[in-house]
Amino acid sequence: MADATRLPMVTASVDAALALHMLYHVPDIPRAVRELSRVVTGDGLVVASTNSDRDKAELDDLWQRAAGEVLGTGRGPARISLSARFSLEKAPAFLGEEFNRVETIELPGTITVRDPEPVIAHMASYQAWADQHDVPFEATIERARTILGEHIAQHGAFEVTCLGGILICRR
Ligand SMILES: C[S@@+](CC[C@H](N)C(=O)[O-])C[C@H]1O[C@@H](n2cnc3c(N)ncnc32)[C@H](O)[C@@H]1O
Repeated sequence: MADATRLPMVTASVDAALALHMLYHVPDIPRAVRELSRVVTGDGLVVASTNSDRDKAELDDLWQRAAGEVLGTGRGPARISLSARFSLEKAPAFLGEEFNRVETIELPGTITVRDPEPVIAHMASYQAWADQHDVPFEATIERARTILGEHIAQHGAFEVTCLGGILICRR
């Protein structure tokens, strides 16, 4: 594996480069964008993908509500969003530094959940964030399970709206 900010490739040596759901992990995003631009040919393209700031907002709401009820604060601290550093909303500005044409293609979707357990299993991955914010993890998960169970009993399902997207970049 190579570091996206130091690609072991000759300048203008490829017709296309993909950066799929990864630029938000890179500490120096502008440098990685410059590297992607460097390795593609003049009429080549870079395709990046990421999530919107609004992606799966219902999961954020559920977590904050459950944590807030456990902490007695009304609404708990927000879940840390990994993609926020290079979200679909922020990506065009980063990519526009190197590319004249940046086209965003939105990819919306909905996840319909009729059983709380897949959501609860996903929330098990929030433990490190909970610990960072002094949120009691097990109690918050239990509270989320109850809230979700009540929501599904009342409405028949819990809907999670997804919004990801692809950015096509050309010079
Ligand atoms: C969410 S995964 C996406 C994987 C794959 N592109 C996909 O769409 O299924 C994020 C990827 O970013 C890679 N990554 C993180 N920092 C990186 C860096 N500085 N340079 C290159 N790759 C990096 C990780 O190794 C991981 O494979």
